[in-house]
Amino acid sequence: MWTLASDVDGTLTGDRDALDRLAARLYRLRAEGELFLILSTGRRLTQVLDGLAEEGLPEPDAVLCQVGTEIYRPPLTLDSEPMIEWRHRLLGEYSRDEALSFLEGIEGLVMQDDVFNTELKTSCFLDGCPQPDAAAEEIRRRVRPYADRYQVVWSSGRDLDILPASSGKGKAIRFLIEQKELDSQNVVVAGDTGNDAAMFEEFNKCIAVANAKPELLDMMRTLGEGRAYLAEKPYAAGVEEGLEHFGVLNGSAS
Ligand code: GLC
Repeated sequence: MWTLASDVDGTLTGDRDALDRLAARLYRLRAEGELFLILSTGRRLTQVLDGLAEEGLPEPDAVLCQVGTEIYRPPLTLDSEPMIEWRHRLLGEYSRDEALSFLEGIEGLVMQDDVFNTELKTSCFLDGCPQPDAAAEEIRRRVRPYADRYQVVWSSGRDLDILPASSGKGKAIRFLIEQKELDSQNVVVAGDTGNDAAMFEEFNKCIAVANAKPELLDMMRTLGEGRAYLAEKPYAAGVEEGLEHFGVLNGSAS
């Protein structure tokens, strides 16, 4: 049994035909009981539900939303509540007021919409700052003494999240597979930006699609040989290529 944990935007989405092809192959594998599929995203649950209905996202066995601060299991509906054990674990280490204090006085910083600012996630845009990378570095510096409780995730030269230290996409997947008693050696992760780096740190079969951002490519270079595969193709076609590389899908599509 394989586990695929894939990011959504820019990894599964971006090329609808390629996604339809990949989804059909994943569907077959899932139907044979050979795949546990996790969608691992910065989206909110409502946006994932829209994606399932309208963008051709494959039916998952679990969804990680808001950058791994919320975990959902099917049946997925607008009323679904995030998994309580995970929520409580994270609430114990996170103070939203304290997280906000790390952002004070950063010139040009703009907070993200309220729906992306939750009790467990504090998110802003830094692309309006005179030097976005320097602003992200300053926030990292402020958070460093509190690294046992907070982490900074910097993505796409634009999005900065302050999350509970124990959360993030990688740790949320680890929590799920332990709970489901899935084999961590058979976990494949796929992504394109900085918020996917946590999955690449946690597991040793990693796929970066060809359109991956520099921050993820830089991070990949620090990983051991053979652990991360940089696909030649972008978006879902790159995920498909990587799954063939790791032997999850064999050969070209039938
Ligand atoms: C998604 C989320 C956003 C977050 C970004 C990077 O776009 O909606 O809140 O900042 O991912 O993690």
